[in-house]
Amino acid sequence: MKYILKTILLLTFSISFSQSKSIDLRVEELLKKMTLEEKIGQLNQYTDDWNITGPLIVNPNKETDVKAGMLGSMLNVNGVERTRKYQELAMQSRLKIPLLFGFDVIHGYKTTFPIPLAEAASWDLSAMELSARIAATEAAASGIHWTFAPMVDIARDPRWGRVMEGAGEDTYLGTKIAYARVKGFQGKLGNLNSVMACAKHFAAYGAAVGGREYNSVDLSDRMLWEVYLPPFKAAVDAGAATFMNAFNDINGIPSTGNKYIQRDILKGKWNYKGFVVSDWGSIGEMYTHGYSKDGIEAAFSAITAGSDMDMESNTYRNTLAQLVNKKRISVALIDDAVKRILRKKFELGLFEDPFRFCNSERQKMALNNSEHTKAAREVAAKCVVLLKNEKNILPLSKETKTIAVIGPMVKPKRINHGFWAVNLKDVDSTYIVSQWEGLENKVGKNTKLLYAKGCDIEGDNKAGFQEAIDVANQSDVVLLSIGERYNMSGEAKSRSNIHLPGIQEELIKELQKTGKPIVVLINAGRPLVFNWTADNMPTIVYTWWLGSEAGNAIADVLFGDYNPSAKLPMTFPRAEGQIPIYYNHFNTGRPSINEEKLYKSSYIDLPNTPKFPFGFGLSYTTFNYSNLKLSKTKMKSNEKIEVSLDVTNTGKYEGEEIVQLYLQDKFASLIRPIKELKDFQKIKLAVGETKTITFVIDNEKLSFYNEKLEFKSEAGDFDLMIGASSEDIRLKSSFELLP
Ligand code: BGC
Repeated sequence: MKYILKTILLLTFSISFSQSKSIDLRVEELLKKMTLEEKIGQLNQYTDDWNITGPLIVNPNKETDVKAGMLGSMLNVNGVERTRKYQELAMQSRLKIPLLFGFDVIHGYKTTFPIPLAEAASWDLSAMELSARIAATEAAASGIHWTFAPMVDIARDPRWGRVMEGAGEDTYLGTKIAYARVKGFQGKLGNLNSVMACAKHFAAYGAAVGGREYNSVDLSDRMLWEVYLPPFKAAVDAGAATFMNAFNDINGIPSTGNKYIQRDILKGKWNYKGFVVSDWGSIGEMYTHGYSKDGIEAAFSAITAGSDMDMESNTYRNTLAQLVNKKRISVALIDDAVKRILRKKFELGLFEDPFRFCNSERQKMALNNSEHTKAAREVAAKCVVLLKNEKNILPLSKETKTIAVIGPMVKPKRINHGFWAVNLKDVDSTYIVSQWEGLENKVGKNTKLLYAKGCDIEGDNKAGFQEAIDVANQSDVVLLSIGERYNMSGEAKSRSNIHLPGIQEELIKELQKTGKPIVVLINAGRPLVFNWTADNMPTIVYTWWLGSEAGNAIADVLFGDYNPSAKLPMTFPRAEGQIPIYYNHFNTGRPSINEEKLYKSSYIDLPNTPKFPFGFGLSYTTFNYSNLKLSKTKMKSNEKIEVSLDVTNTGKYEGEEIVQLYLQDKFASLIRPIKELKDFQKIKLAVGETKTITFVIDNEKLSFYNEKLEFKSEAGDFDLMIGASSEDIRLKSSFELLP
């Protein structure tokens, strides 16, 4: 994998702009030539009709506006021909300022990688960087300059369909992933295989009340800083060229018009130099929010708050000039936004050659690259979470005679792509490997595969049950692939009921009666609830939506060519009533220890614990943790503690383990979570091999946002826990931070 990453970087065609003038100077010079209308033009973004990802405002003047220099960017224009067509129109404008083309390249372009939540389960930062790199390579070769990714919203509510787009519930893991993904997409801006990244949705969109899409967020500053902002800060540190604000309000102020979030934190405290695009129509939507009484007020709030570009609401286009003329905003404010956008166009090399991303030969090569396919398969296998393997049914023997492959997910292809896959209209779906095809590719001549659909994903039609039972009866083992349809998690896909849809669990019950060993594969974009299955099925594999190589990757895992290593990046609840549920919660004054209920913080009808905890995932092998050592047990804030431990592969297969380090600050001026992930390492061990791994505890790992929002540590006792999951703590120790 490292080799591929290196090769791609080496092959990178980099233009070296040995400009005599700095970009800043060129931006200033261009700005001087621009009229107010042309400046405002740069702040507008229209959609084309490739993918419509929001309520469309039909814009008949698209082409005229481009020619008149009234548009800075377009989204949903795809492919070199179409982008070239619009860029040619832009070249007819007075100042010939090139357009930026943005697109939601969320988890791959043509080669589709696992959905981001699945990738997060790999905890493999270089794999995620590579998948973003490949997505960027393919997108950039297809005329795209800018992806609206990564989505770095921390999400603790699986009812929210957009959890599939992010890195899950944990801030530490999410922060590392945000950094890796931005680096992956952007490489070095200006290279021909790089696209601008866009950290979204700024901010705290993942905290939408009730997990309901586009809903309000009511959040303390402390939570904002501690839980939701760090991945955004990591995106700034990684050099993210752009940010996107969010649909939600925060404490009554829409993010789009939120000065505190954008102007004070992002552009102020963090000194961010990129630009901020609104979310689709979100400037105009401030009217519907009940925040801005008309378009003029919406534009005023958005531009003063720091939203630089208006995606698809036409509000800036229609009102900014009036605001300047009435002297409610200064031209300098507009200039600042324009300069941020122009700077990126210069950095991308578009002024040297506006068509440099429009090369059809390069597009063809990038979209037919077997190295990309290979990487997609490897990354996908790393994302599969083994939830149960009680009777060691897995890995399957390659000598197995007859395998029944049952379920609504077995044969369809598109389903493996999940939500937010790029829909390439001119490319057929033959390149997507279905689960059936993956198994066919894997098994030899002596293995017979039998198929039955069993039932649909939704609905209550049991007509297919009997065929499934018959097929199961003829087999040595049953593979049952069930779950969510590709568009049941995603934008605008909040669900109040996150149980396995339809009658799929009933099908499992029927198949159980055959007495055959059953392996349940669950395909989904979010944590689902499947208690009966979890309690009664010996073998469960959570496959998420794995992308175009899903079939091959799943077969690799089932037959042991890849030993599963992924761990859950989100807590799996027992019931919707436990939501929001997350491992790093605070303690109460009356915690329920050992499920004690009377006058304890608990539910009387359910345990507090999740069905599957954060950080959980099995392997075909087993690991023993031992020999925990701390270099000292008392440290000052300017010192460090080295933590070391041994991990041994005690099972029968080579395997990878994700070793997790959690801390708890025992007493503090503000109560601290019962444990917080503060580091992890993914290591590979041969059978019988022992490796010593080391972590370093420094003051940053002990710090938190106090009442004054200062990020500081406080002297006192800390518990240190080393776990194979957030609940499976294998080794413990403690230390003291001295005053
Ligand atoms: C989504 C964004 C997306 C944009 C453009 C919006 O509805 O919230 O995440 O980037 O549409 O497609």
